[in-house]
Amino acid sequence: MTGASGQVGGELLTTLSPLGTVIAPSRAEMDLASAASVRAFIRQSKPDWIVSAGAYTAVDKAESEPELAYAINAEAAGVIGEETKALGAAVIHYSTDYVFNGSGTTPWVETDPTGPLGVYGASKLAGEQALLSSGAAAMIFRTSWVYGATGKNFLRTILRLAREREELRIVNDQHGAPTWSRDLARMAAYVIGACGGSPENAATFAGVYHAAGSGETTWAGFAAEAIRMLQQREPEAKLARVTGIPTVEYPTPAARPANSRLNCAKLATVFGWEMPEWRDSLPRVFDEMS
Ligand SMILES: NC(=O)c1ccc[n+]([C@@H]2O[C@H](COP(=O)([O-])OP(=O)(O)OC[C@H]3O[C@@H](n4cnc5c(N)ncnc54)[C@H](OP(=O)(O)O)[C@@H]3O)[C@@H](O)[C@H]2O)c1
Repeated sequence: MTGASGQVGGELLTTLSPLGTVIAPSRAEMDLASAASVRAFIRQSKPDWIVSAGAYTAVDKAESEPELAYAINAEAAGVIGEETKALGAAVIHYSTDYVFNGSGTTPWVETDPTGPLGVYGASKLAGEQALLSSGAAAMIFRTSWVYGATGKNFLRTILRLAREREELRIVNDQHGAPTWSRDLARMAAYVIGACGGSPENAATFAGVYHAAGSGETTWAGFAAEAIRMLQQREPEAKLARVTGIPTVEYPTPAARPANSRLNCAKLATVFGWEMPEWRDSLPRVFDEMS
């Protein structure tokens, strides 16, 4: 697996371990920015499955570091595909809602036209295309708004700021679903199980899937719900109130899609896997943090 020190990768270490021997190289052992390093590590370790959670995820910084974003998100994905194909292995890869341009109000389906608004989304889309064109048995899961009990994420930032400030002004015109990193890691283990653990079977399921928390909200809605839950747990705490603002009042180097809703029906139909409601996962993450 790649990305073991990340939000999803950290959870994968737990969910994948009952399935077999998990090899989780450090950045020094396998640098995703170096095609040669990725190729050499895969050739030496000869995995049956690669679960690829490592990525360049700094959405705004990517605008000024496009070469690095493409090396990690696109070129490494292509090399993973080539080497996987050569080994007869299979890949589970994570991608993003940022491959879409955010127009409309209906949840995106896998076959909808892509149109990334920034370098990060474009580099992740190039990674999807490189993996698919490698001919590897690759299953690509686009997700959105990933958070968890550890790591750098919106939830943890909001909970910290809620204690420090009286008011938090948060964007309320971007729509999507928060997705717990553990739900994504459990899904990967389930999918490997659904393939009977066999990379050959995975070829039948190759393609793109959407896998985000069920339900939808806005960033302001997510923040308000998180603060409400914190208040329930700490009735005495003085916490910030949330004020919704339009995206134009919170400019960022990279544009964000206004509509990040992902339709996850294909995942349910093909694998029988329903992503949990984001409102159900959120209190479980609180339990982990306390
Ligand atoms: N976070 C989100 O909101 C979000 C939304 C949609 C989709 N996704 C996708 O979901 C997947 C998992 O995201 P995440 O939130 O778990 O990401 P994350 O917490 O930012 O973790 C990224 C991982 O990639 C590793 N990495 C980065 N550059 C590397 C390099 N050059 N060589 C080796 N490893 C490198 C990081 O290692 P270091 O610790 O050494 O940096 C870290 O382990 C990614 O494919 C991401 O694009 C995420």
